Amino acid sequence: MNVIRPNSLQARDIAYVIHPQTNLAKHEQTGPSIIMRGDGIRVYDDSGKEFIEGAAGLWCASLGFASDRIAAVAARQISTLGYYHSYRSTAHPAGIELAEKLIELAPVPMSKVLLQCSGSEANDTAIKLCWYYHAAHGKPEKNKIIGRMGGYHGTTVAAGSLSGKPDMHVDFNLPLPQFRHTLNPHYYRNHLEGETPEEFATRLADALEAMILEEGPDTVAAFFAEPVMGAGGVIVPPPTYFEKIQAVLKKYDVLFVADEVICGFGRTGNWWGSQTFNLKPDIISCAKALSAAFMPISALLISEKVYQAMVEQSRKLGSFVHGYTYTGHPVAAAVALEVLNIYEEMDLVAHTKRVGAYFQSKLAQFSEHPLVGEVLGVGMIAGVDLVADKAARTPFPNMPSIDEHLREAGLIVRVIGNRVAFSPPIIIEERGVDEMLKRFGTALDRAYADTRSS
Ligand SMILES: Cc1ncc(COP(=O)(O)O)c(C=O)c1O
Repeated sequence: MNVIRPNSLQARDIAYVIHPQTNLAKHEQTGPSIIMRGDGIRVYDDSGKEFIEGAAGLWCASLGFASDRIAAVAARQISTLGYYHSYRSTAHPAGIELAEKLIELAPVPMSKVLLQCSGSEANDTAIKLCWYYHAAHGKPEKNKIIGRMGGYHGTTVAAGSLSGKPDMHVDFNLPLPQFRHTLNPHYYRNHLEGETPEEFATRLADALEAMILEEGPDTVAAFFAEPVMGAGGVIVPPPTYFEKIQAVLKKYDVLFVADEVICGFGRTGNWWGSQTFNLKPDIISCAKALSAAFMPISALLISEKVYQAMVEQSRKLGSFVHGYTYTGHPVAAAVALEVLNIYEEMDLVAHTKRVGAYFQSKLAQFSEHPLVGEVLGVGMIAGVDLVADKAARTPFPNMPSIDEHLREAGLIVRVIGNRVAFSPPIIIEERGVDEMLKRFGTALDRAYADTRSS
């Protein structure tokens, strides 16, 4: 039991701070775990305990948790121009350079960049742009947005509606009425007896088509997908899935938005998840590793066809009436530019392919463990499914106490339901992978021992 001392940081946190994605009643008793500093892939708490951060924070701290080089860039930008907006045709060099760089890096031809502050904001704006696009084409009733069960796109009103996570909707009056959710592409959990991964993919594309037909193709605006579902438990789609899904979208003039908030910038072994899975999106949202999480910034990469619709709307309505005070913040933009420079210097793709292949092969060895039903991953992201019965693929009704054992072993990873998600900082090397997985093995064995003794 955690003893909270009066006036300690823990006590002051309980007194003043609300934590997202937290049981607030429990937090009043337990208080926070407080992280004091970071160094490469490691972070240290207020007792001095060291952890390997195998989740990169929230899938984002690609370059680790501290950087003098980035600090110097941020300081220089603040001394030169610490703030300016980009409303009403106003610009600054960092915003222009970052947009130019993102268009150069884009996985498919893209035309323009709209800078934003977070992944949720980027997806919210993308939803608005899909509505705007169809309105520009005289089809305002083409306004339904399809996400996927288990998909995660943020927690703002629209991005939360798009997310296919019922616990995010309950008592928040969500989802909004225009949102639908199609089937989850997790083969291991959702395939039918005897169904191959390709047949499973066909069934899911057929289900999407049936949904579009049932709703009426003239009412469906867009489909959003993460190349690899992250917060849904790291779900790598089965072969042919996106090929079949994209054929359906094309047939019914449904825009495709790739949510690259996690997958962008090396996570799947390429610059973009869209390259790993051969996606041809009309809009891409990205965030997180864009600035290696040193600054809050996100971006929408917008195709020429969507941009032209936006221009038409400006002609008709007088302005693109959308924006945020911090859109394209110069400090965040300067930091993101430097992070992209670092990715190029470290040869991001070669690095993530090499270390990613090592990580996947080492993690796959856990498939033999009695608690493990599935190990599924690509590049620098993976999920491990823990099961009560391997043959029947039965999840635990109550998960074993893996969380505590992970912390005790000095490893931070994300436990999502019955899955353990890995997304280490991209800078991790083979030695770091070995140490991370050794700690995981220790935690897994202890959790298994608990299940045997209970
Ligand atoms: C795929 C995806 N999209 C969007 C978001 C939301 O990003 P943010 O938390 O920056 O709003 C997340 C966050 O984890 C995400 O994983």
